[in-house]
Amino acid sequence: MFLIAPSLLSADFTRLGEEVADVLASGADWIHFDVMDGHYVPNLTVGPMVCKAIRPLTRAPIDVHLMVEPVDGLIAGFAEAGADFITFHPEASRHIDRSLALIRSLGCRAGLVFNPATSLDVLDYEMDKVDLVLLMSVNPGFGGQMFIPSVLRKLEKARSKIDAHARETGREIRLEIDGGVKVGNIAEIARAGADTFVAGSGIFGARRGDDPHHYNSILGAFRAELAKVRSG
Ligand code: DX5
Ligand code: ZN
Repeated sequence: MFLIAPSLLSADFTRLGEEVADVLASGADWIHFDVMDGHYVPNLTVGPMVCKAIRPLTRAPIDVHLMVEPVDGLIAGFAEAGADFITFHPEASRHIDRSLALIRSLGCRAGLVFNPATSLDVLDYEMDKVDLVLLMSVNPGFGGQMFIPSVLRKLEKARSKIDAHARETGREIRLEIDGGVKVGNIAEIARAGADTFVAGSGIFGARRGDDPHHYNSILGAFRAELAKVRSG
């Protein structure tokens, strides 16, 4: 039930393919792909070409997190590049409902991303169009920032909306957290309701040497913390 999605933002970009292969060989579930445009956020990263380049390396879901404005133009590019999930920030789209429908119409699963101070209210109207809810626990734009603790209460709120929706419709929506996730706080974050965990610096910062399984121990440590939550 708990999924770990390493964020490539903190990977070694001179050997990106190896990093993807190594982290998956060490037991990661998804690849989290951060797209920044130097406009919606101050930083600039990678686009559909890089997503397309890593797509043949794995069948694991690629979780594309768009930190761009506007969003619709890039959705098609990422769908074509092989993205499985495409998420965007509601304030970056003029027509949220249309952008969500566009993602699904291209065969991908759709999600909304909420900054630390953004209200979850839009979910009350869009729940049926969403497959993934992503809560930011840092302000978007950079890896390696500190987890913002008030997001724990927000996770509880999102969890109850998602559970209510599941009771009504039988449909599952994943609840993902992004920013400052480490071995020391992942259990608390899971207890607050998250089931999918993005970690960048917390995973790729643990690279040691050239052993392809060198991420085993950090991912093992994450899983051991999550096992404590599962066993109550
Ligand atoms: C931040 C990105 C995150 C980032 C997380 O804007 O959305 O995915 O890579 O990095 P860490 O885990 O280092 O906080
Ligand atoms: Zn992200």
